[in-house]
Amino acid sequence: MSSLLNRDYLKESDFTAEELTALMDLAGALKEAKRHKREPRHLQGRNIVLLFEKDSTRTRCAFEVAAHDQGAQVTYLGPSGSQMGKKESMPDTARVLSRFFDGIEYRGFAQSRVEALAQYADVPVWNGLTNEWHPTQLLADMMTMRECCPKPLSGQTLAYIGDARYNMGNSLMMGSAILGLDFRSVAPRSLWTGDDVYEAAAAKARGTGARILRTESLAEGVKGCDFLYTDVWVSMGEPEHVWKERIDLLSPYRINDAVVRLTGNPDCQFLHCLPSFHNRDTSIGEDIYQRYGVEAMEVSDDVFESPRNRAFDEAENRMHTIKAIMVATLAGVDAGIAGN
Ligand code: CP
Ligand code: NVA
Repeated sequence: MSSLLNRDYLKESDFTAEELTALMDLAGALKEAKRHKREPRHLQGRNIVLLFEKDSTRTRCAFEVAAHDQGAQVTYLGPSGSQMGKKESMPDTARVLSRFFDGIEYRGFAQSRVEALAQYADVPVWNGLTNEWHPTQLLADMMTMRECCPKPLSGQTLAYIGDARYNMGNSLMMGSAILGLDFRSVAPRSLWTGDDVYEAAAAKARGTGARILRTESLAEGVKGCDFLYTDVWVSMGEPEHVWKERIDLLSPYRINDAVVRLTGNPDCQFLHCLPSFHNRDTSIGEDIYQRYGVEAMEVSDDVFESPRNRAFDEAENRMHTIKAIMVATLAGVDAGIAGN
């Protein structure tokens, strides 16, 4: 693999299977080094800026802890408090931040905004989630699947169930196509992954042996699956009024024990990028219950609180994979030298 030094990390389709695999290998080596308390510091003296136009727990903490572990300093700019987007364009923001920082993370709205940052920045730019793609999450998901299932990724079967038009539906479809999985996107037709993403993924799949399916049928989609994956039904930045329509459309697609049984695979495991509405223990979860009488949304506790749930392994792997992306793009490190 050619070095990822100075590359941006904006969306899955910019990378080959070999490159994504190398990043997972590197994340694994860094995870192991941290566990043995012998982690080398590849980013000493570096400065990193985290730009968040939307909220975050995992992504922000993963970047901050990963940077600190590697000896880098972090500056966080949240949804308010900077000039970005209001008084200063993305190209101008990129050119200013490049004079201060060695790497830029961006979480926000349109993919075009992170692409503009990358075009005008002189330093690597990493996409921490846009409406269209969530590529740092994808890497953690695939790493977790490699760790939790004895089959190679190219032999695994994954169903994504829920709102398939958005970042996670897109990233999982494209990532699966590149890495050669049997991937099923299961959703009512009005929430299907867009034709542009589906056709691009299908084209990748022809070269990798992946299988990419869009279906409305839960039974067809989950049959034989190693992993079932879901995400919130209403994503950050979407208007409040879509809740009712989403609940009506997606309630039949909630992941519960019956859906797990439908796979026919007793070893089927559950994945979720988190955060998750699986009970009423959040202000939004309680509000939805009061308004619509729904106790759990995309997954119920019979699955979420079961040993099938790998979502917290995924959450941990966000940190190891983000660390791998930073050390590969800022220091040219690969798995062979990660622990040295
Ligand atoms: N999965 C994920 O991106 O979580 P945060 O929104 O907490 O960063
Ligand atoms: N689709 C979700 C993902 C959160 C990690 C959102 O964009 O809010």
